[in-house]
Amino acid sequence: MTFEPHRPTVPAGLRWSAATSAFQIEGSREADGGGRSIWDDYLERPGAIIDGSTGDPGGDSYRHPELDVALAAGLALDRYRFSIPWARLQPDGRGNGNTAALDHYSRFVDLLLEAGVTPFPTLFHWEMPSAMEAEGGWLSRDTVARFADYVAIVADRLGDRVEHWYTLNEPAMTTLQGYAVGALAPGKQLLFDALPTVHHQLLAHARASEALRARGAAQVGLLNNHTWVLPLHDTAEDQQAAALYDIIHNRVFSEPLLTGGYPDLEALGLPAMPVHDGDLEAIVRSIDFYGINFYNPTTITAADAASPIPFDIVPTPGVPVTGFGPEWPIMPSALRDLLIDLHARHPEMPPVIIGENGASFPEPDDAGRVEDPARIDYLAGHIAAVAEAIDAGVPVEEFTVWSLLDNWEWADGYTQRFGLVHVDFETGERTPKASYDWYRDLIASAKAAATTTEESR
Ligand code: FCB
Repeated sequence: MTFEPHRPTVPAGLRWSAATSAFQIEGSREADGGGRSIWDDYLERPGAIIDGSTGDPGGDSYRHPELDVALAAGLALDRYRFSIPWARLQPDGRGNGNTAALDHYSRFVDLLLEAGVTPFPTLFHWEMPSAMEAEGGWLSRDTVARFADYVAIVADRLGDRVEHWYTLNEPAMTTLQGYAVGALAPGKQLLFDALPTVHHQLLAHARASEALRARGAAQVGLLNNHTWVLPLHDTAEDQQAAALYDIIHNRVFSEPLLTGGYPDLEALGLPAMPVHDGDLEAIVRSIDFYGINFYNPTTITAADAASPIPFDIVPTPGVPVTGFGPEWPIMPSALRDLLIDLHARHPEMPPVIIGENGASFPEPDDAGRVEDPARIDYLAGHIAAVAEAIDAGVPVEEFTVWSLLDNWEWADGYTQRFGLVHVDFETGERTPKASYDWYRDLIASAKAAATTTEESR
């Protein structure tokens, strides 16, 4: 299939969204009695954040939520994906919840609904309360019940107006980057001993789903980060290394949700998951949709025998890269291929939501119109890849751009701009980029085409 890169064939009926997360845009970390999170701790480590920044005030969205709502409405988004920070809502990870912060998110939900945009919150986008991490964080099974309690508090307050929920954002990144290699908070370097955090996160998601459904939720799911794994060389060693990486990045998260069982980790010499009776049954019943965040393929080669881990991640040959350089290769066909492959392995899978896709490119810090054709190409290529997967029978229902606006990119601070909207971090001023206009027009033409199809029936 060929496509015109700037005007991909857009599948009729797809929902359109854009995403942000609280710690990356809100600032005002201590406002309304907010507590400390693992990110407040991590960013104080010398050298942890590339530019020494703190994310505060960032886009200043906590003080000016109406600015982001206007931008979401200006795109005519079906839904807006934002996150609610656990440490603001329950500063110590226990108790009845922080009323001032609950009021804030309640007002925010109202603002979105008044603007005609459906709120689609994420309940955990990486900011564990420090007090919970001190008790073991995701290494501890007790965190499962604590998370479900927090989710119940939020749903009791917002559940009369919010019907669609994401529980966790990218448990794979929390396990791999947060607990295995330490490149994200909480900055632990446990290598394969990080694996229990997989099960505790999936179980926490399942218990949270039960709490949400008991409070009337219509749709609950989580967002897994998926990559398409490519062996560097066509050798048995590289294929074996790639298969192992595929398991710990993708399949250890997707298979319990989609089949009710983990891949056989012990056969690979890895520790088994800390599964108790009933856990897997709860996990396999827990999703109404399967959320996928996709950015890039990952190329793998076998590591030296002396290495503590048996694979190395290497640049993907022959493809362009984003502002991160060779770490983030651009290959839209990888999204199509992984969607088709996942669906072939799980033909009964629930509807798929692409919960994040987007790219950073070098852009000026000062406010002003940004022409960003590289971002438009990236998004157009990936939307076309989604269209191809839909044509092949994959039930994708929604596409979400990361991100609505420039933000604080975790350990990369302010050095990577992902927004459809430029943010001047000195003044908080927001200026839509060319990609914002492009996405707005794409959504409008997709909706017009869907209406015409509907009328001609
Ligand atoms: C994802 C995160 C999101 C953002 C993008 C670029 O892994 O969920 O917060 O950092 O990457």
